[in-house]
Amino acid sequence: MRNLLIIGNWKMHGNWETSHALLHRLHESLNKFPNAIKIGVCPPFVYLERTHNFLSSHQSLIKLGAQDVSTEENGAYTGQISAAMLQDVGCEWVIVGHSERRHILNESSEQVAQKAMMALKSKLTPIICIGETLKERENSRTQQVLAEQLAPVLALGDNLSKIVVAYEPVWAIGTGLSATPEQAQEIHAWVREEVAKVDQNVAQSLPILYGGSVKPSNALELFGCPDVDGGLIGGASLDAGTFFEICKSAYNLAEDMPLPLE
Ligand code: PGA
Repeated sequence: MRNLLIIGNWKMHGNWETSHALLHRLHESLNKFPNAIKIGVCPPFVYLERTHNFLSSHQSLIKLGAQDVSTEENGAYTGQISAAMLQDVGCEWVIVGHSERRHILNESSEQVAQKAMMALKSKLTPIICIGETLKERENSRTQQVLAEQLAPVLALGDNLSKIVVAYEPVWAIGTGLSATPEQAQEIHAWVREEVAKVDQNVAQSLPILYGGSVKPSNALELFGCPDVDGGLIGGASLDAGTFFEICKSAYNLAEDMPLPLE
């Protein structure tokens, strides 16, 4: 059984005052969960350290992740942040290849795999995002596009056992239009098959998250799909009550867990 993982991606929203208030409310509500699921938040770089300090001083079960990492190890790369720096400020995960970076900043799949490699070298877990645009889906190119995005990731060799994949259809991100559970399950199962061609065991244990307009009304159905192992949550992670409801859906699905929460 793969543990469910719910990650909030705060993107470039808010300021420290709003982030602190959000953290406070999340910690209060989410710390009632026993460790049956894993929960993380990915604030903007400049708030990582303060977030880490908050979480560790409150002995919070919420873990920390970053939204991106450099392809380089260190050196004269103005404005970039290395994996070692993220590790230094208490990160456990880092998102790489988010569609906003692939599409707005033209990041290639090779760069994304290189970022994943850097993360792994610093003992961070890369959450590698893949996803097709609406046009690609309408032209029946979904699997071709995802296969291209996955190819350099599948070449990570033994490191494949240390990654998380997030399937985030671009047409579902921030649009309110989520993939249906059937659409998500179809792609997640396909991704697992692609990984199984490289390593059967890794494929079975690989966490594959779904992202794209996850909300309390669809979380239970999406996370209930056999190959969906949790979610990468954008907009809905910015409201503590909404994120809590989403986490609660995951908690309810966790194996053999009674429901302690009203
Ligand atoms: P959304 O974003 O939940 O706001 O659709 C998901 C993401 O970008 O990771």
